[in-house]
Amino acid sequence: MAGLPPIDREAPCCQRPELAQLERTSVLLKRTRHLWKRRAQRKLFKLAGTQGMLDEQWQHSLEDSMGFRGQWDEHRRYQMEELKRLGLTPSSTLLEIGCGPLTAGIPLIEFLASDGYVGVDVRSSVLDMSWQQIGRAGLSAKNPRLICSDSFGSAELGDRQFDFIWAFSVLFHLSDELLDKLFANFSQRLAPRGQFIANIQTNADESTWLEFPFLKRSVEVYETAAAKHGLRTVNLGTIAERGFKLESVERDNILLQFSGA
Ligand SMILES: C[S@@+](CC[C@H](N)C(=O)[O-])C[C@H]1O[C@@H](n2cnc3c(N)ncnc32)[C@H](O)[C@@H]1O
Repeated sequence: MAGLPPIDREAPCCQRPELAQLERTSVLLKRTRHLWKRRAQRKLFKLAGTQGMLDEQWQHSLEDSMGFRGQWDEHRRYQMEELKRLGLTPSSTLLEIGCGPLTAGIPLIEFLASDGYVGVDVRSSVLDMSWQQIGRAGLSAKNPRLICSDSFGSAELGDRQFDFIWAFSVLFHLSDELLDKLFANFSQRLAPRGQFIANIQTNADESTWLEFPFLKRSVEVYETAAAKHGLRTVNLGTIAERGFKLESVERDNILLQFSGA
């Protein structure tokens, strides 16, 4: 190899132009390979309809955790419309018991002023989804509060009172003992002229849903349980009569309004 200068392997790269060039080329090649790989992955993701599948899976998880697959939009619409009809305004404060994955919670947080919404649920797994929902909807600036509690937030909420307490598809999942605790708690939790509204089921066979019982009780049973804690009950009629549009069994649920006597 006469004529070629010997390679000084100890010399730094900057003093060996042929090695520095090689290194630049290798870095460029690596970057190009990475870019092409990402481009191909994005194309495949699109072609396979992966985003649609992920969105559908997410929607199913939400619906499974509120109990009514395929009924999400109408449950959301009805609850919002009902609350507005009952007098909810942006300056109202609202406590939602059994808020689940925020079926009503998201439009409620949107509608109410900052700090106006508090949701309580007994399952932390569903509240984890609820926090994701808040992030996806870009609503963290509204300062919603979510509480995981098996005592309706009694310790966490202290003596805070609300204009509205809302429990949709929840009372029939509570044992008699829990129902008594709920009314005891809410007799102090309602602001002056505040109202607690909930649907009940009076005719479907008893069964279970997830880890909860599904109980049939008459209006009178609820009336008596509420009166024990100084709450007056008004029967507002079935949710179908009040504009719930689905033909499913819960259309016969009765809406009850409880308030200070
Ligand atoms: C049928 S889902 C309805 C969810 C939501 N209200 C809606 O309209 O989609 C009933 C919810 O009540 C919650 N729940 C059951 N027992 C509860 C309790 N003792 N305290 C708070 N939440 C409870 C469940 O975890 C579930 O999220």
